[in-house]
Amino acid sequence: MFKSCIAAAMNALVLLSTPTLAAEGDPIVIKFAHVVADDTPKGKGALMFKKLVEERLGGKVKVEVYPNSTLVGDADELQALLDNKVQLLAPSLSKFDKYTKKLQVFDLPFLFDDAEAVKRFQNREMSRELLRSMADHGIYGLAYWSNGLKQLSATRALQKPEDAAGLSFRIQASTVLDAQFKAVNATPVRLPFAEAYKALQSGMVQGTENPWSNIVSQNMHTVQPFITESNHGVLNYMLITNSRFWISIPFGVRSELEGIIDEVTQAVNKEAEALNQRDRERIIAAGTSKLIALSPEERQAWRDKMMPVWKSFENDIGADVIRAAQTVNRRR
Ligand code: LMR
Repeated sequence: MFKSCIAAAMNALVLLSTPTLAAEGDPIVIKFAHVVADDTPKGKGALMFKKLVEERLGGKVKVEVYPNSTLVGDADELQALLDNKVQLLAPSLSKFDKYTKKLQVFDLPFLFDDAEAVKRFQNREMSRELLRSMADHGIYGLAYWSNGLKQLSATRALQKPEDAAGLSFRIQASTVLDAQFKAVNATPVRLPFAEAYKALQSGMVQGTENPWSNIVSQNMHTVQPFITESNHGVLNYMLITNSRFWISIPFGVRSELEGIIDEVTQAVNKEAEALNQRDRERIIAAGTSKLIALSPEERQAWRDKMMPVWKSFENDIGADVIRAAQTVNRRR
């Protein structure tokens, strides 16, 4: 108890004594790095943030956007944020394992009925608390940005869970996703997003999971002849910054930035579903992949195989967090 009081006091001191990181008179530079293309929900959100900041805070704040892993990729972006080499990131909620186990709730397969349910959860008190779940590491959660529900793709038609057996799937670095693919006797292979297309094209892995926007913007549909409309999990983001950097921004400017972030967040979350549907149509028009629909019984079969994963992560995530997430589904 005494120790934790001292630690809290020291943290407060560090925050209070943190200097403004830009020299007086110079604009504050915010490097916003991400791993996807510009024409995706996250890519568009980053560009909208830059535009609004430059319109409203021009001269005081400069935003540089680095898409497509051009500055940092999944493997090193969080460390780069902590080292203040970048100031804004929006990693997928699957990529925070190392800093908090609680966010793994978003990876649990078949937890949310649809993208609207995920949005409802993101607006609940529990999700607000999860924005602070990495505070001890100096990571400050600013907002949730939506992308969409994930689809399974492969070189083979995946109608039943048994069809995935023996295939290798590229996954994000998440222990839940690892367990999810093992549950259907497939082999999960952790790879940075920037390497996913090549791994699929070369045959190093035969399948993966992604929202439509990521499939199209990385051309994955050109090397994945089958896409199952499984909607089995979510790929959304947390917009994060380095706490010390954020607190170093003068209060008035920081409030303006937070107002802009609210505006951009609403726009991203409103448009994400439409962008994904547009990209689904693009895949159909390209004619490269057969889309596989699942009957309610077939979807249930996937659910039955993958759902035992929940139990094995309940202690890490917290039963209360999982329960809170379940309450957003309308049918319960
Ligand atoms: C992935 O690695 O598949 C995603 O997290 C990429 C992204 O940022 O959407």
